[in-house]
Amino acid sequence: MADIERVGVLGCGLMGSGIAQVAATAGYETIARDVSKEIGERARAGIEKSLAKFVEKAKLAAPDRDAVLKRLSFTTAVADLKSCDIIIEAVTEDLDLKNQMWKELDGLCPPSTIFASNTSSLKIAAMAAATKRADRFVGLHFFNPVPLMPLVEVVRTVTTSDEAFRRAFAFAKSLGKEAVAAKDNSGFIVNLLLVPYLLDAIRAVEHGVATIPDIDKAMQLGCGYPMGPLTLLDFVGLDTTYKIAEIMFAEYKQQHYAPPPLLKRMVLAGMYGKKSGKGFYDYSATPPAVANLGL
Ligand code: 3HC
Repeated sequence: MADIERVGVLGCGLMGSGIAQVAATAGYETIARDVSKEIGERARAGIEKSLAKFVEKAKLAAPDRDAVLKRLSFTTAVADLKSCDIIIEAVTEDLDLKNQMWKELDGLCPPSTIFASNTSSLKIAAMAAATKRADRFVGLHFFNPVPLMPLVEVVRTVTTSDEAFRRAFAFAKSLGKEAVAAKDNSGFIVNLLLVPYLLDAIRAVEHGVATIPDIDKAMQLGCGYPMGPLTLLDFVGLDTTYKIAEIMFAEYKQQHYAPPPLLKRMVLAGMYGKKSGKGFYDYSATPPAVANLGL
């Protein structure tokens, strides 16, 4: 089976642009697609900024940075990904939207192309079943910020072939990441354990257990976590977390996956965290100030 040379990425948000960056850095010709030219330009600017940090820290040589940027292209046409050897989807957690793209690409890509989803909580099988290549469909779940976090969960469904899983696992490792094998259970390994913890932190805010910075400080200093849970929520995105929680609650019907009312109110108010400028903290101030949630 052909080696992977060309990587396609669907979605140029936080995760998609990070995935495109690590693929291009690992030497793959990479093409990333989103709905508008502006989103692609924003993604390229974000990648340039991230690569500049690595150059600044002498983790990447300037000529290598230029080569990475040369390997990266952006498009608005899903069909432009048709010659890729692997396609990684990182669009919003909407199964119909994802499957619409998979169906289009399924008819265009050669049989050897592997389809991979970066979904956090949907079942890979629900996407694989929409294509005629259910045996060549896997999950590749990255972590935010993708260029810094060393893990990828490689997910196999009941239909994934050994060959496709092996290729996807080897591909994840070729990106300089550590890979773990996970089954196609909603949340895989990390979100199965992380999401209840993050939601419990919001419940602690709702119940007035402690202030927002003290909850963060307690988990950072008491458990050695690099970020407190409320900072991490702002970082991951409250809208994203809300969607993941809803999907996991629908799957498991367990109370600890239920999105707390405060999370829903904040999402309704457009408080998505760092990306919208406000979540549990207000990022218009330096350093960020605690947001007034009217509690
Ligand atoms: N590219 C390049 N450099 C970056 C970067 C990026 N995308 N993002 C941050 N950096 C840089 C920072 O600018 C900083 O540079 P500086 O030292 O020059 O200021 C440097 O990396 C280190 O960052 P910080 O000093 O801010 O802080 P840390 O030492 O804490 O490291 C971190 C940052 C690696 C993000 C660390 O805080 C961490 O591990 N946090 C937890 C993240 C986490 O849990 N992610 C998983 C989320 S769950 C998920 O993604 C799954 C999804 O399905 C929900």
